[in-house]
Amino acid sequence: MKILIATEKPFAAVAVDGMRKVIEEAGAELVLLEKYGSRKELLDAVASVDALIIRSDKVDAEVFEAAPSLKVVVRAGAGYDNVDLGAATAHDVCVQNTPGQNSNAVAELVFGLAVMMCRNMYNGTSGSELKDKTLGIQAFGQVGRNVARIGRGFGMEISALDPYCPDNVMEEAGVSPVHSVEDLYRNNKVVSIHIPATPETRGSIGYDLIASMPKGGLLVNTARKEVIDEDGLIRALEERPDLKYAADVAPERAAEIKERFGDRVFFTPKKMGAQTSEANINAGIAAARQVMAFLLNGEQKYRVNK
Ligand code: 3PG
Repeated sequence: MKILIATEKPFAAVAVDGMRKVIEEAGAELVLLEKYGSRKELLDAVASVDALIIRSDKVDAEVFEAAPSLKVVVRAGAGYDNVDLGAATAHDVCVQNTPGQNSNAVAELVFGLAVMMCRNMYNGTSGSELKDKTLGIQAFGQVGRNVARIGRGFGMEISALDPYCPDNVMEEAGVSPVHSVEDLYRNNKVVSIHIPATPETRGSIGYDLIASMPKGGLLVNTARKEVIDEDGLIRALEERPDLKYAADVAPERAAEIKERFGDRVFFTPKKMGAQTSEANINAGIAAARQVMAFLLNGEQKYRVNK
């Protein structure tokens, strides 16, 4: 059995070592394709493998067609918007993710970004503190819950919106449930986005929501750039010079936005949310275990396609 790890943005070496151990101890062979420069390299590499472990790497119909023995793809991470689930199902391939394994890393980055923005990019002028400020969390999944935990440590007043999460789960975490997205944005000085990119959420955060934020509002997006309506963001930043925006991964029009709004905006040059060795170890080893459990025992607890 051949297991391919294909990562344009590689895991930390220590994570790859751990994955190798899991795979080889289970009697399979690891094939490693890191920092590949062309799609052809990926298409060639999948030709003879039984399983594929990826990060944000794009896996579409062309990849499935090039991989006749592929049985399982595990996205080492949470968001699987990079995998064409319909094509996977059509090729009888099981797709899984590893929910929660990198969520603390993303949550810590939220506060790294928030402190930097509130301290005016450390430019020497007086900024503001997070203590006693309102924090609104959009989606109370694994990342959102870690954001709440850390936000409590900062002494923030926390609320969250998540139609899929019962109110009592939030309340037990010391978080006030909010039932409309309008209320979340209107009432929180800092809003942190943790919704997935789906047809329903793409472009769903735009002018009306952003411009409704309280004075001095900060929007932090460590989810996907696609959930933001960039025209709306630009208009809100233009009309409200007190607002700030920080994101993990630059928007499409990053250069223009940076040029127009300077230090009121910040974008990581590459997606950094899960770029810690701890997150790589957690998600990578979980992915390797899930691959072997699927191939050897048919386990598919984290399957995301039908
Ligand atoms: C995720 O969905 O798990 C994060 O966005 C991490 O993505 P990455 O593995 O490409 O860093």
